[in-house]
Amino acid sequence: MCGIVAYIGKKEAYPIVLKGLKRLEYRGYDSSGIALLKNEEIKLFKKEGKVLNLENHVESKDNSGTRGIGHTRWATHGPPNDKNAHPHLSQDGAIAIVHNGIIENYDVLRQELESKGYKFNSDTDTEVLCYLIADIKKNTGNKLGKSVRLALQQVVGAYAIVVMCKDEPNKLIAARKSSPLVIGIGKENDFYVASDATPIVEYTKQVVYLNDGEIAILNEKKGLKLYNIDEVQKDPYVEELELHLEALEKGGYDHFMLKEIHEQPHSIEDCFRGRLNAKEGWVSLGGIKYYENDIINANRIVMVACGTSWHACLVGEYLFEDLARINVEVEYASEFRYRNPIINEGDIVLAISQSGETADTMAALELAKSKGATILGICNVVGSSISRITDAGSYTHAGPEIGVASTKAFTAQVTVLTLMAASLARKKGKLNDSKYRNLLSSLEAIPQKVQLVLDKTEKIKKIAAKYKDASNALYLGRGSSFPVALEGALKLKEISYIHAEGYPAAEMKHGPIALIDEEMPVFVIATKGPSYEKVVSNIQEVKARKGKIIAIVTEGDEQVKQFADDYIEIPETNEYLVPLIATVPFQILSYYIAVMRECNVDQPRNLAKSVTVE
Ligand code: M6R
Repeated sequence: MCGIVAYIGKKEAYPIVLKGLKRLEYRGYDSSGIALLKNEEIKLFKKEGKVLNLENHVESKDNSGTRGIGHTRWATHGPPNDKNAHPHLSQDGAIAIVHNGIIENYDVLRQELESKGYKFNSDTDTEVLCYLIADIKKNTGNKLGKSVRLALQQVVGAYAIVVMCKDEPNKLIAARKSSPLVIGIGKENDFYVASDATPIVEYTKQVVYLNDGEIAILNEKKGLKLYNIDEVQKDPYVEELELHLEALEKGGYDHFMLKEIHEQPHSIEDCFRGRLNAKEGWVSLGGIKYYENDIINANRIVMVACGTSWHACLVGEYLFEDLARINVEVEYASEFRYRNPIINEGDIVLAISQSGETADTMAALELAKSKGATILGICNVVGSSISRITDAGSYTHAGPEIGVASTKAFTAQVTVLTLMAASLARKKGKLNDSKYRNLLSSLEAIPQKVQLVLDKTEKIKKIAAKYKDASNALYLGRGSSFPVALEGALKLKEISYIHAEGYPAAEMKHGPIALIDEEMPVFVIATKGPSYEKVVSNIQEVKARKGKIIAIVTEGDEQVKQFADDYIEIPETNEYLVPLIATVPFQILSYYIAVMRECNVDQPRNLAKSVTVE
């Protein structure tokens, strides 16, 4: 939610900040803005809508200056318009701020400031914080850094901020609590700040991830100084970025989502590379190696996540329980954190998150930790908040996922869960040698099989054309294909705006069957496996009500083809790995349906890639 970019140094700030905002646009695209500082004057540019609107607006204007802060917004307080766009200025125009997060007590602070005679120009919580900093600075005579610190002591909520002041032009102040912020250290005593490393990587690989409660003063003359909220100075921990620039480009594809779908043979392989050897019969997930006994001996594992990552948890539940006989409960992080859940010492709480920044998932982990649970994480973004607060975990190594709709992150999450389940099952003696080796070698073959599905794109595109005008859709699956059905429905609704629901196939007759008529496409995962015959019966129930069946079937299947209006064959695999392959045709279908409906695939309406607010 919301992207922040800032620069201070000798280069022109505008092109750096603008390019950075384009990279971060996936985090929110309701409005954007930039403030530039030159000759002790702040120039402010803000526009509703995409960064392109801002670029067009600034094009003919003086955009020079070697310090700048920028923001791309996902609206929380106040509608998305020019007025509410960031940066916000103090009343006297001396201070500019960009903010990601929510100031929960902003109304009280606003009233206090209004009683002192301040007049606000926007509906945002951010402008209140900016006025508060300015008020403290004016009344105490403190410098900017200290004024920011004192203001933040009064704030309840989440923030990542960058502050700039025309009276102290050699510095930027950056601070975070519960919203991410990374500082890039340039080669010429210059500094870059951003919500994630993507706007920074082309300038420097030396970064410092701010921790909660930290405030950084970036001074072009004096360098980087780091403090906690009580002004105790800390040593910054400088890390080397592993990110590559090419991973952030579309690489010839029309959309990031399409690129990311097509990357899956590689991203799945990257995920298990060095962690699995089927010939020698071993799996090793270094990150959680020392916690395997704890997992085995735990009363239960609670998996927490949101959205697509929650669907991966459901696949994980199936794998852990069936393969390793380990008790798993899957929880929406947003529900878990507010439900006063029973957590005992010795429980394991495992969070799954592509971004590693999802606010509800973070809060669920913090709650679990406070109650004595061991907290583990599966994240994609290296250095993300979740990866840093957990006791241990595994990265998915899928590479940057920019399309708002999650695709390669899901298959990588399921790959890590499969590796974990296989390793735990083996350790517990629940999987005999031949089944274990078969599972591992089947996993090694998944990238090729995913490629075979990708090769069917033309056929899937034709099916997409047939159903693109549907108003509703149902997705059905059983066992570990039920989460695939949920994921298929989520992909369709979030990018094409067609109402879609995923159901366990057998649940259909308890209600959703009433919706079926000749207009209703029903997407069914009907691959060979333990519940195949039962799914075939469910398909017949749909056909009896004239519904349209689009079936995902195992290559060579003849039975389902008789009833299906359309079918997509996927290669046979070990039954535990079906979700890794069966999800891909649904991704392709949703993608082309959205394109045919002229939807904005990479940046669907109202959404943001990482949901860092509640
Ligand atoms: O970064 P996370 O995996 O924690 O994000 C969770 C959800 O916000 C995310 O999966 C969302 O549902 C995607 N847009 C789905 O495609």
